[in-house]
Amino acid sequence: MDVLTALLLVHLIPVSTPKNGMSSKSRKRIMPDPVTEPPVTDPVYEALLYCNIPSVAERSMEGHAPHHFKLVSVHVFIRHGDRYPLYVIPKTKRPEIDCTLVANRKPYHPKLEAFISHMSKGSGASFESPLNSLPLYPNHPLCEMGELTQTGVVQHLQNGQLLRDIYLKKHKLLPNDWSADQLYLETTGKSRTLQSGLALLYGFLPDFDWKKIYFRHQPSALFCSGSCYCPVRNQYLEKEQRRQYLLRLKNSQLEKTYGEMAKIVDVPTKQLRAANPIDSMLCHFCHNVSFPCTRNGCVDMEHFKVIKTHQIEDERERREKKLYFGYSLLGAHPILNQTIGRMQRATEGRKEELFALYSAHDVTLSPVLSALGLSEARFPRFAARLIFELWQDREKPSEHSVRILYNGVDVTFHTSFCQDHHKRSPKPMCPLENLVRFVKRDMFVALGGSGTNYYDACHREGF
Ligand SMILES: *[C@@H]1O[C@H](CO)[C@@H](O)[C@H](O)[C@H]1NC(C)=O
Ligand SMILES: *[C@@H]1O[C@H](CO)[C@@H](O)[C@H](O)[C@H]1NC(C)=O
Repeated sequence: MDVLTALLLVHLIPVSTPKNGMSSKSRKRIMPDPVTEPPVTDPVYEALLYCNIPSVAERSMEGHAPHHFKLVSVHVFIRHGDRYPLYVIPKTKRPEIDCTLVANRKPYHPKLEAFISHMSKGSGASFESPLNSLPLYPNHPLCEMGELTQTGVVQHLQNGQLLRDIYLKKHKLLPNDWSADQLYLETTGKSRTLQSGLALLYGFLPDFDWKKIYFRHQPSALFCSGSCYCPVRNQYLEKEQRRQYLLRLKNSQLEKTYGEMAKIVDVPTKQLRAANPIDSMLCHFCHNVSFPCTRNGCVDMEHFKVIKTHQIEDERERREKKLYFGYSLLGAHPILNQTIGRMQRATEGRKEELFALYSAHDVTLSPVLSALGLSEARFPRFAARLIFELWQDREKPSEHSVRILYNGVDVTFHTSFCQDHHKRSPKPMCPLENLVRFVKRDMFVALGGSGTNYYDACHREGF
């Protein structure tokens, strides 16, 4: 299949239209049922989901709750939108993609023009250092490495607008005279995450007033703030990388493919592999730009399929071997701990930080998903969103509940801390206590050691 045919297929992906409750179709798309459905392994279909090409507005399950529930706070984790590759395929021309924003070029968004004009007027003092030095929107006629594209901006304008319709218009999360301290905004120091966060907020907020925006800088992709030192986490990661390496060696078709591609671009196989060609190939694929050619031939769709299929197999083995799970429990603890802290303050009636946005990376979302036990969840696509909603039962005001949504799908009862609850209770959400108990204690029990807190679990001897 060529890139064009593959791209046309994107329009055939079903968009579900659930009215009440989740349709089984939408669940299948994101969370294939491992019992009744064979795992989806079509590499081209998976790649298209990963691209997340903006098309018709999608339906989502955010904000669905019975009438007697009141929305208290919302915590949003996003991956940045579509970006230019981080690596080049050696000795080939890099894909010609224009990262300037042009309101009448596809993909469109009704707010794109206003976004450009607002951002180009500059920001004042809305960012913690060193974020001040980053451009507010992508602006290079030939994208720089890792730069957010127009597609990436549109993806997050769309996310923002969707969340605005649900959380602001429907559930009145923020009062009309909302102020800066009702938002909590944090981003890593890359232009693509800052710009993704700005695009989402521009779509979300009724009035984007720079005086009410303050982005904090997060130096770690794990968002672990002051708790990043964790030797056992690093040991899990080393073992996980070893597993990955051994799986690759076993795949002779993959080795053959790398060999062929290395011949085409005329570099040693090792050098080609180190250049992580799938990252660049995905950019060609998502942007309908043909794969690179040299006088020795062309990189083609068959190469792409082999590497992408291997990625899918790697993710499957990663789930089985559980090393990544250990890494994830420790890696995600600090940010989950911060999130429950924020939720608990909100249950005490504090009106600050009602909407928290963490603008992050695949390596941020992936450990959080794994730690929560959402092992069937797909790898975070461009502009993926993971949302924690906190609700209060008006009929029993002391009771608070959470819902967890991944790309618009309600995955609350797929999490390890709420699977059993689902079977016992007719309530459509999970008691906040379950999440709190999980973060404070059960995460460490799941690690299997004797540690009962983060510090002990991170410093376990003889692991
Ligand atoms: C992909 O690119 C080709 C030209 O290379 C163009 O004819 C086609 O319309 C494009 N397809 C999509 C879906 O944009
Ligand atoms: C967890 O959060 C509490 C405050 O809510 C804080 O005192 C504690 O240090 C945090 N622990 C870790 C490991 O981040």
